Amino acid sequence: MLGRLAATRLLEIRQAFRRAAQVTNHCFHCFFFSFSFSSKFLPSTDPSLPPNLISMHIDSPDNNPDMPWEFNSQNQEKVKEIISHYPSNYKQSAVIPLLDLAQQQHGGWLPVSAMNAVAKVIEVAPIRVYEVATFYSMFNRTPVGKYHLLVCGTTPCMIRGSREIEDALLKHLGVKRNEVTKDGLFSVGEMECMGSCVNAPMITVADYSSGSEGYSYNYYEDVTPKRVVEIVELLRKGEKLPPGTQNAKRIMSGPEGGNTTLLTDPKPPPCRDLDAC
Ligand code: FES
Repeated sequence: MLGRLAATRLLEIRQAFRRAAQVTNHCFHCFFFSFSFSSKFLPSTDPSLPPNLISMHIDSPDNNPDMPWEFNSQNQEKVKEIISHYPSNYKQSAVIPLLDLAQQQHGGWLPVSAMNAVAKVIEVAPIRVYEVATFYSMFNRTPVGKYHLLVCGTTPCMIRGSREIEDALLKHLGVKRNEVTKDGLFSVGEMECMGSCVNAPMITVADYSSGSEGYSYNYYEDVTPKRVVEIVELLRKGEKLPPGTQNAKRIMSGPEGGNTTLLTDPKPPPCRDLDAC
């Protein structure tokens, strides 16, 4: 089963590489980290390409390098404070906290002009900032909903049904991946392993409902297609549901139905007569 799934995944990746080579005539590095402003590249929403592999910047009226963007006066102070944490010749080390600040200021996502503003502050070429923003999936490069639902797509979660989880969410919300619902409440994205494989499949809800500055990431684990739809509806009603396993028969990451081994206290190690040594 595992072998078959891995083979299918490999085939999908190969096909994506082949298509990308035909479409972009681009090097593989640029294929993964495409930040081209040329219109000859396909947008990430092209249905013929796997959206989790191809993610590119395409100029739009609300996201283009000519759009004016700068840190507001309140955040100017925070910028100075963040930069002060690093030696003056290593300003570039502040790239992640500054991108985070820019994302918060911009309502939960990062337009390219915000990345350019960060590059200017830390005095590096913009590509250095794009490299970071495209690598870390907590940086949203397109608008997201108040609740951004991220489905883990890595192998353990995939084997335990993450594709069905995503399908259930997309169908229930009537959106494609990375699209925002008309009411602005929800969007669905994908993340790679979030470290809860023992409770696979799992989703994370990036919760921006208290404003992008008070956002939180909450893990919902052991989910089913039915349960994720229930989670969406509870969030819609504004209910704060407890994160963690959604399987009532498990306690955190413990085995379903309780322990079957190690049921008694472990024996202490034998006492050694140190004087006899
Ligand atoms: S594979 Fe999904 S949390 Fe690790």
